[in-house]
Amino acid sequence: MEELRFDDPDAFRTGPPYEVLARLRREHGVMWQPPSPRTPSGFWVVLRHRDIVRVSRSPAEFAAGEGTLLYDLPPAPLRRGALDMLSGQLGFRDPPDHTRLRQLLAPAFLPGAVRALEERVREVARSLVARVAERPSFDLVADVALPLPVQVVLGTVMGMEPEMESRVASLMLRAQAAEDPRLNPEGPLGAIEALDEVYRMGVECIRERRAAPTGDLLSTLLGSRSADGSAVDDRTVLWLWFALLAGAFETVAGSVAAGALAFLEHPAQRRRLEEDPELLPGAMDELLRWGAPVLYFRRTAVRDTEVGGQPIRAGQKVLLCYPSANRDPEVFADAERFDVGRTPNAHLTFGYGPHFCLGARLAELQLRCAFQELLPLLGRLEVAGPVERVRSSWLNRLSSLPVRRTDA
Ligand code: HEM
Repeated sequence: MEELRFDDPDAFRTGPPYEVLARLRREHGVMWQPPSPRTPSGFWVVLRHRDIVRVSRSPAEFAAGEGTLLYDLPPAPLRRGALDMLSGQLGFRDPPDHTRLRQLLAPAFLPGAVRALEERVREVARSLVARVAERPSFDLVADVALPLPVQVVLGTVMGMEPEMESRVASLMLRAQAAEDPRLNPEGPLGAIEALDEVYRMGVECIRERRAAPTGDLLSTLLGSRSADGSAVDDRTVLWLWFALLAGAFETVAGSVAAGALAFLEHPAQRRRLEEDPELLPGAMDELLRWGAPVLYFRRTAVRDTEVGGQPIRAGQKVLLCYPSANRDPEVFADAERFDVGRTPNAHLTFGYGPHFCLGARLAELQLRCAFQELLPLLGRLEVAGPVERVRSSWLNRLSSLPVRRTDA
């Protein structure tokens, strides 16, 4: 079992090792990773689909409030400034706080609100693809996959000016890809500094919007009231603002990039989709299943319990490995096949239960618009150099996908 350490970013340098995961899922289902210098407590990894569903739907037994990544949060009294912003965000909360916060943010992501964004999302996707379409070569990550959610979520949804949009995006990329020396050359301190700067920008933005609301999401949140009628304070709004930054663009970028690579590697599936555009929504589910952009989120056992027959003790960390669940043959027929016509498709890429991704519909919209624009172009492209990945034990995202035109 020592062959795959979930706290070693180099273990995932060529992507999730699906064959190893399949064997571990079969043989162990729930696997113990003993203490290591990186994770002195040791931790469990849940590999089966049904067990991940069981943990995700049981917040009273498996809490998010101790953090959803492997690292430990400092004790509550020490969480100030950027640390308060990080640990207060929606994903790191349990009921009843979680429920209250989610209710504040949810209206912005209801189906009608997302539909209203469709034209803008399409426009962004179209202009990004048009810009690269005639070039002999380009990078699908830097030129399309990353700028799309940055412009849609940070720009359109969060109302940032282009200069702030790109500054915040580069800081968040540094913080989230903290283990990758190319993206975050200064190591853990660099990631903390990046978060500090994001914090200061968030505080400043909130101060400005309080003084002069603009009608954007931040202004709406500042004017909203909790279910009990109380006004929402600046600290709460900062938590919500940061939840969007943390969840919204690395993930979409990762899915667009993984999807583009999947279509380049499976041209018959791309042609099938071009011939039958009605398959598009289901095909996007298949892209999400195939290339889940995060390797795990974590929970912490609140009391002694069990998962899939494996006893788990109170206080132990439990990692939910989504890429493994997405290839579980108990749920997916021919799970190792990329199939744009797959139905049903109960992938767990957006999680499950009370923390189910709030931005799932917006993510799907971005994927649909991106691939409607990209599909005709992908048929004229080939991979032109090494496909690089973010060095991370958490993110499952390409950092570079160089392509060139085959008809240039
Ligand atoms: C392909 C793109 C995306 C993927 C794969 C993804 C994945 C996830 C997952 C797995 C969770 C659950 C975390 C957990 O259980 O601990 C989550 C939560 C969340 N996501 Fe996404 N996400 C994506 C896009 C987005 C977008 C576009 C937004 C917002 C604009 C967003 C906002 C959020 C928020 C706010 C949460 C926290 C929900 C809660 O804790 O109640 N996500 N996401």
